[in-house]
Amino acid sequence: MGDAYDVAVIGAGTGGYSAALRARGLGKRVALVERDDRLGGTCLLRGCIPTKALLRSAAVLDTVNRSDEWGIKASGEADWSAVLAFQQRMVEKNVKGLTGLVGQRGIDVVKGAAKLLPGSAVQVEGSRIEAADVVVASGSAPKLIPGIERTDRIITSDEALALDFIPETVVVIGAGAVGLEFASLYRSLGAEVTLVEMLPHLAPLEDQEISKEIARAFRKRGIEAYAGAAVKSLRQEGERVEVVFDAGDQEKISWVDICLIAVGRGPVTDGLGLAEAGVELTERGFVRVDGLLRTTAPHVWAIGDVADTPLQLAHVSFTEGYAVAERIAGIQVPEIEYANIPRVTYCTPEIASVGLTEARAKEGGRDVRTEKLDFRGVGKANIEGEGGFVKVVAEADGTVRGVHMIGPHVTDLIAEGMLITSWEATIDEVAALIHPHPTLSEGLGEAFLALAGKPLHSV
Ligand code: NAI
Repeated sequence: MGDAYDVAVIGAGTGGYSAALRARGLGKRVALVERDDRLGGTCLLRGCIPTKALLRSAAVLDTVNRSDEWGIKASGEADWSAVLAFQQRMVEKNVKGLTGLVGQRGIDVVKGAAKLLPGSAVQVEGSRIEAADVVVASGSAPKLIPGIERTDRIITSDEALALDFIPETVVVIGAGAVGLEFASLYRSLGAEVTLVEMLPHLAPLEDQEISKEIARAFRKRGIEAYAGAAVKSLRQEGERVEVVFDAGDQEKISWVDICLIAVGRGPVTDGLGLAEAGVELTERGFVRVDGLLRTTAPHVWAIGDVADTPLQLAHVSFTEGYAVAERIAGIQVPEIEYANIPRVTYCTPEIASVGLTEARAKEGGRDVRTEKLDFRGVGKANIEGEGGFVKVVAEADGTVRGVHMIGPHVTDLIAEGMLITSWEATIDEVAALIHPHPTLSEGLGEAFLALAGKPLHSV
């Protein structure tokens, strides 16, 4: 007989640690199993935190190199090893904070690779952990293009974080969040960047007007972007990579220093013994879950990127971790409403959205009302030196269903959109609220004034 817990959580990423913290907060005895040396998973170690640190350095460089616009004489260049050191400091700070928190809360961290045993127990490196409930939160890893192997020059976001030089020429394959962020980063660092997306638009999950605007903004920044483009071949020769792709009716050949593949992330399920424990996977290899995040095995739950739920985002996994911990404790938690979870991409310009796109809102022939408010009409945005827009999608009766933004600091501004769509506010209700001046939030306020038929600065 091994150690006995109420809950064993496999994986200490954002999903796993949030489930562990909440379960412990509800008085459960919790074991948190992690095979990596450090707690934190993709978000802290290889995703959100290190990439946002790099993008912060890139934004500082952009500001310095544009400083004459604000009457300041300066010019900058990246000290790559110092940039990487900043990134590592940010990661370590978060890992240290998380490790301390988990210890303080009285969660037992078990180091090693976990394997499910029938009957909701878990084996870790030869020892058996008994647990009434098991939460699988093993996360995801970057996918490759079928038939293409990773090399020192054909890389994914994982390797990009430790690359010891700034490439001069880059092809980024895939224009989802990872592709857009790295294309933006490398351009800010001075590289010639080509972005290749298979689907007909960049940022294909966003509202089409956002896709058009990011394509325009990237073009203005000198990023060569191709949508509807199919990669035909990819190979490294010496220190160069040849990428051949079809763009419309033209075949393009690029020779570059680095090819970064950003075509999505696949589930991590290796060695977990899921099938033997009765946990079914979907055709795409994700853990099958019901609306309450229960797997097909009793008392085994799945959360975060490994679970077959609509969005692979850190904040989604926090929400799923909390929901599962509370359900294990017997609390009734409604199913998560994925449509009202904000989506944020930290390229320049930033993109953020919540709720339905115009195309989705119109499905089934529904009438919708939309408004697009240009940030160039907002004083604070002009002072920041950035354009973009706020687009609102509402039903004919005025209920707001979607907020889509591109421009300065919209990844922070979207929190207001989240409240609006989640509370099913109407145009008139939001138009009656007073936004502080001069702030970027006036972009939202004025979009609603315009939708309510009483525009202030917009036409
Ligand atoms: P993704 O699935 O969002 O985008 C991948 C893109 O690659 C798609 O647009 C797809 O059409 C394209 N693609 C696939 N195969 C291709 C091919 N052979 N040639 C050209 N294009 C191809 O995946 P991504 O960007 O790798 O991100 C993974 C996950 O991580 C996503 O769920 C994303 O939302 C999340 N993430 C979130 C961030 C954020 O919230 N700021 C930042 C980075 C990632």
